[in-house]
Amino acid sequence: MTTSAFRRGFTHVKCRGEFYPRTENKVRRLQVPDDKVSWDAAFPDYRPTNFTSEHVLKGPVWADKDDLTTGNYKWNCLDNNVDRRSHLGEYNLDSQGRPLNPRGRTGISGRGCLGRWGPNHAADPVVTRWSIDPSTGKILQAKGQPVLQFVSILRGDCNEWALPGGMVDPGESFSTTLLREFVEEAMDMSTSAEKEKVKEFFATGGTEIYRGYVDDPRNTDNSWMETVVVNYHDRDGTYFKNIKLKSGDDAIGVQWKNLTDDLKLYASHSFFLKKVKELHLNGN
Ligand code: BGC
Repeated sequence: MTTSAFRRGFTHVKCRGEFYPRTENKVRRLQVPDDKVSWDAAFPDYRPTNFTSEHVLKGPVWADKDDLTTGNYKWNCLDNNVDRRSHLGEYNLDSQGRPLNPRGRTGISGRGCLGRWGPNHAADPVVTRWSIDPSTGKILQAKGQPVLQFVSILRGDCNEWALPGGMVDPGESFSTTLLREFVEEAMDMSTSAEKEKVKEFFATGGTEIYRGYVDDPRNTDNSWMETVVVNYHDRDGTYFKNIKLKSGDDAIGVQWKNLTDDLKLYASHSFFLKKVKELHLNGN
């Protein structure tokens, strides 16, 4: 997928795999060919598997009700603190009144393991600094270019390296989620003075890298992930100099990783990092 294709509105791929994730390969997606992804393309035999996980059906606080009539949800609005607006603009509803994935068919209807009908909002902080070569004390170079490092966490749910992002709580602003998730997932053992320092660092302002739909394997025809990605750059390394990272919450590992071209990361995270690299190497 090229950068421009992603910007224009790429065709989602990760949510058209054979099986729905975390179902031990028991829930099969109806296969949707590339040219039938768009709702505008005729697909008369389209009968997707309907699947909402048991866990979501039990109704935890972060999930909507399965019955849309009792839920009385207000689509495309800020609905009692739950943001049901999409970064992509207004979404449509299907014949049963369920939000329709703006990026097209996925082969599964229902919510899968996502809590909200419609957009499920996340926020991802990308904390970067220059990588220092310990033998020279200077910025490490690769292929004639300075190397960036970013804070990466190992996700406990899928064992993949990722950005320390997470879901936006009802009523929470994206900037609050960005800081909260970073502290929860990457600074578990930090002192309150260290947390204050990082709060101060985030308050110096970041650069928005992306805002929109995510090609996430959990997406369905009626529930999907969206995110806001913000880069916070510790220009001279002073903020993080004495801060030791420690994973917490649902992260099982944390490290400063060199930002190289061959990174394999969760969901669309490598794409976001590519944009961060472009920002610093072309813009600074
Ligand atoms: C993750 C974010 C990710 C989003 C979309 C959330 O569960 O915490 O890091 O960007 O899903 O894939």
